[in-house]
Amino acid sequence: MKAPVRVAVTGAAGQIGYSLLFRIAAGEMFGKDQPVILQLLEITPALEVLEGVVMELEDCAFPLLAGVTTSDQAKIAFRDAHFILLIGAKPRGPGMERRDLLEANAAIFSQQGKAIDAMASRSVRVLVVGNPANTNALIVQRNAPTIAPRRFTAMTRLDHNRALAQLASKTGARVNELRQMIIWGNHSSTQYPDISQATVKGRRANGLVDRQWLTQDFIPTVQQRGAAIIRARGQSSAASAANAIIDHMRSWILGTPEDDWVSMAILSDGSYGIAEGLFFSFPCRCSAGNYQVVEGLEIDEFSRTRMLATEQELAEERGAIKHLLP
Ligand code: NAI
Repeated sequence: MKAPVRVAVTGAAGQIGYSLLFRIAAGEMFGKDQPVILQLLEITPALEVLEGVVMELEDCAFPLLAGVTTSDQAKIAFRDAHFILLIGAKPRGPGMERRDLLEANAAIFSQQGKAIDAMASRSVRVLVVGNPANTNALIVQRNAPTIAPRRFTAMTRLDHNRALAQLASKTGARVNELRQMIIWGNHSSTQYPDISQATVKGRRANGLVDRQWLTQDFIPTVQQRGAAIIRARGQSSAASAANAIIDHMRSWILGTPEDDWVSMAILSDGSYGIAEGLFFSFPCRCSAGNYQVVEGLEIDEFSRTRMLATEQELAEERGAIKHLLP
C-alpha cells in the first residue's frame, strides 16, 4: 500500500465539502490504491457541524481513509499537506459591494497563504475554489513566497464542464465525443467559453452550430449558469462544483489525454498577451503532475475582444485589493 497523502480542505462543513469529502475518501481523486488523510479546516462556529460530517465519514468505513483531523487553525490544518483545496470563503452578504467582498476574502486568503507558506509540504498543490476564486488565488500565492507559483491554481473546470454539456446537448453528441473546449479568464460572468478549437466527433464545432446560438445562447448560458442554479435551487451549485474539483485535481496529477486539454486558472506568464501576474484561465495540458499552457492557438477578433473583457475585470479585481498584496 502507498503512503497516505495529506489533503487539507477548507470550508469542509459547507455544501461543497459535503459533496466532496466522501468522494475523496472513496478514492475518486487520487485513485483506488492511494490512501488519504483529510485535514479539515472550518471557522470555530462550524466545528460542531464538521464533527457530524466526520462521524459520517467514519461510518462509511472507507478502506482508503487513513485519518481525519479537524481544526479552526489554518496552521494546523495545512501542516505537511500535499494538496490543499481552498473552498471556504465569505459569501456576499446583503448590501455588500463587490469591493467589500473582495476585501473580506483578501483577509481570509492572506492568512491562509501565510499558513501554507509556513506549514505545507514544499511540493503542495493548491486549488482555490472559494469566490472570487481567481483573485483569492492571487492573494494566497503572493502570501506564500517560498512555494513555487506554479503550485497554485484556481478553478474554472466547472465552467469547462458546463460548456461541454451545452455543446454536447446542442449537437446531439455525448460529452466524451467532444475535445478541446476552452474557458478563458475569470470564474465570473465575464469568462469567455470558447468553442473555436473544439471538435465534436472529430469535426470542428464551429461548423456545426450557428453564430446566433453561439453568441445569444451558448456563451451567456455558460456565463450565467451559476446564477440559474441559485435561482432554481435556492443554493449555489455544490455537487457539480465538487465534481469539478475532483476532475481538476485528477487532470493535474494524472494528466490529460493526448488529444485533449482542460481549463485551469493559473498565474499568467504573458501567454496570449494576457497581463502577467493575473490568475487567468487558459487551456492547459497536464502530464506527470505538471501543467503547460497550450500555445500557438489562433485567436480571432471575436475571441480577442472577449478575452480582453475578462482580463480587464481581473485587473480591476486586483486593483481593488492591491493595497493588501505583499
Ligand atoms: P457554504 O457557505 O455552504 O460553505 C462554505 C464553508 O466555508 C462554511 O461552512 C463556512 O463556515 C466555511 N468558511 C468560511 N470562512 C472560512 C475560513 N476563513 N476558513 C475555513 N472555512 C471557512 O458554501 P459552498 O456552497 O460550499 O461554496 C464555497 C465557495 O465556493 C463559495 O465561495 C462559492 O462561491 C464557491 N464556488 C466556486 C465555484 C467555482 O467554480 N470556482 C463553484 C461553486 C461554488
